[in-house]
Amino acid sequence: MAQEIFDKVKVILAEIENTNPSSAEETEQFRIKYLGSKNILKPLFGEIRNVPNERKKEFGQLVNSVKEAAEKKLESVKSKVAEADEAAEANSLDLTAPGEPLSVGTRHPVSIIMNKIVETFSRIGFTVAQDREIEDDWHNFTALNTPADHPARDMQDTYYLLHDTEKLLRTHTSSVQIRTMENQKPPIRAIFPGRVYRNETISARAHCQFHQVEGLYIDENVSFSDLKQTIEYFAKEVFGHQTKIRLRPSYFPFTEPSAEVDISCFICGGDGCNVCKYTTWVEIGGCGMVDPKVLENCGIDSQKYTGFAFGMGVERIAMLKYRINDIRLLFENDVRFLNQFKSAL
Ligand code: PHE
Repeated sequence: MAQEIFDKVKVILAEIENTNPSSAEETEQFRIKYLGSKNILKPLFGEIRNVPNERKKEFGQLVNSVKEAAEKKLESVKSKVAEADEAAEANSLDLTAPGEPLSVGTRHPVSIIMNKIVETFSRIGFTVAQDREIEDDWHNFTALNTPADHPARDMQDTYYLLHDTEKLLRTHTSSVQIRTMENQKPPIRAIFPGRVYRNETISARAHCQFHQVEGLYIDENVSFSDLKQTIEYFAKEVFGHQTKIRLRPSYFPFTEPSAEVDISCFICGGDGCNVCKYTTWVEIGGCGMVDPKVLENCGIDSQKYTGFAFGMGVERIAMLKYRINDIRLLFENDVRFLNQFKSAL
């Protein structure tokens, strides 16, 4: 009788030794059968009472060795199965499957327009000049023939530096025109892209920071018709070949004569719409012949040389072109807004 119980345990031991689980599923089943809370060894413990006293110790040791064997087996099988699973996963890699799409960024609409303007002028020989945003009074105002009492100097419009009131944030990139004329002999043909600042109340139509591209052409015999032709070329390149330009007399301290630049409305093409406010024209910037006084301020002989200058606001053009109705969108960098310019590159 007792021998029978010993034999049963030995059968289980042999079974354990001969079982080789080969998957995670089989391993779990092995664990439940031999080591789980209802394992098959448990009922055998109950039969210990049928074992004669002198063999009880032997029986206990045998049952324990079965448990140890099951534990040992489980350990060795577990790591093998994990390795096999990894290998299987590697084999299931489908190298022909299409890759995860990488989302590409977008250029900011202001950069798109700025690049387009720079590229358009560089095709007709204009170089690009950039300079500091913190300027002095001379380069931003005085050299540009802006009298001391000119409204553009009003503290309302200009940000002066607190710790150094001689310095200000440039209100236009005309300051770079001055620096270029001071450092270069004519002929000069350059454009000046950059960020400018004005102390404006922020609203849908105005911001305290924006971007400009200004341009300058100084040589002998530069005339107003050269200016007109250059503006016309630019307008057709950027807004389409059917675009017409209109120059309206205006005033800037640094140009004489001066004009505002209008282009025919590229949205309605002359029928009238709310972009051009039913006038069929939209204003994009200012221009004029460089005042001789400005040339002299920069050490250029105004008897020998003449020149023209122009300037435009990049945000304004971007807003017109992309029908953006609030300038603040251009400074918030909300990706939902920016993602709309993916195809505009
Ligand atoms: N500097 C002027 C502005 O910021 C623009 C301009 C440039 C006008 C050159 C005429 C000539 O408003």
